[in-house]
Amino acid sequence: MNEDLIKKTAQAIRRSKKVVALTGAGISVESGIPDFRGPSGLWEKFDPMEYATIEAFIANPEKVWAMLKEMGGLVERAEPNPAHLALARLEKMGHLNSIVTQNIDNLHQAAGSKRVIEFHGNSSRLLCMSCGRTYDRQEVVLDALPPRCSCTGVLKPDVVFFGEAIPWKAHIEAKEEAGTCELMLVIGTSAVVAPACDLPLIAKRAGATIVEVNLEETQLTRYVSHWILKGSASGLLQALVDQIVSAGQGS
Ligand code: APR
Repeated sequence: MNEDLIKKTAQAIRRSKKVVALTGAGISVESGIPDFRGPSGLWEKFDPMEYATIEAFIANPEKVWAMLKEMGGLVERAEPNPAHLALARLEKMGHLNSIVTQNIDNLHQAAGSKRVIEFHGNSSRLLCMSCGRTYDRQEVVLDALPPRCSCTGVLKPDVVFFGEAIPWKAHIEAKEEAGTCELMLVIGTSAVVAPACDLPLIAKRAGATIVEVNLEETQLTRYVSHWILKGSASGLLQALVDQIVSAGQGS
């Protein structure tokens, strides 16, 4: 772990009036949820063109729900890990303004984070494709697939499939946060999916410092980020919080 870069990042966070975090699947890997494009990622097992586009869902909801049910089990059993807890702590300490997450697993909220912008929705809610009624995931039994609304419409997780628009409110809020922050932490995302991958660029153009936290370099590392903390999200974010706390005690 690069102590100097941890110290530099902690200092930059303490000096910033507004810090925003953008998170991706990598932050939840240590909670037992695979990412999408890694060696044992979800898209290694399920072709996203067959399971993750809105066209595929409409054409064969039963097939797509079989994958969703399998993934849903993993998500429901998952607990926040030290990375989620570290961000919740940073928020509580007044060093983090908001989290824009691409994740649909509700783990930031479960860790205690208050200001979470759900850029790709949240799988703990289901939405009727016909009447628009929403259900809490827990109140729906997944015996017969696809699950159906009382109006007989097909229920879909309230998440963004490829081919669907980003929820308007989340899109506006995320762009606002990116355009007004002084530092953006970009954690556990390959930054290949738009428009989420544009947010660090919006932030940089607005003068923000961009710090990546990832096991490996991404597209952003070369073209957008000021520096990268390379390693696991839980270890690095924990070390960052410890550094900020001890620096705070020293000042
Ligand atoms: N700590 C830090 N980074 C990690 C860890 C970890 N423990 N494990 C994996 N990573 C990194 C990987 O190196 C990779 O860069 O997290 C990233 C995960 O990238 P993806 O699998 O592409 O996930 P993400 O960027 O969130 O995908 C974006 O694509 O499939 C769609 O809608 C889905 O929201 C998702 C979007």
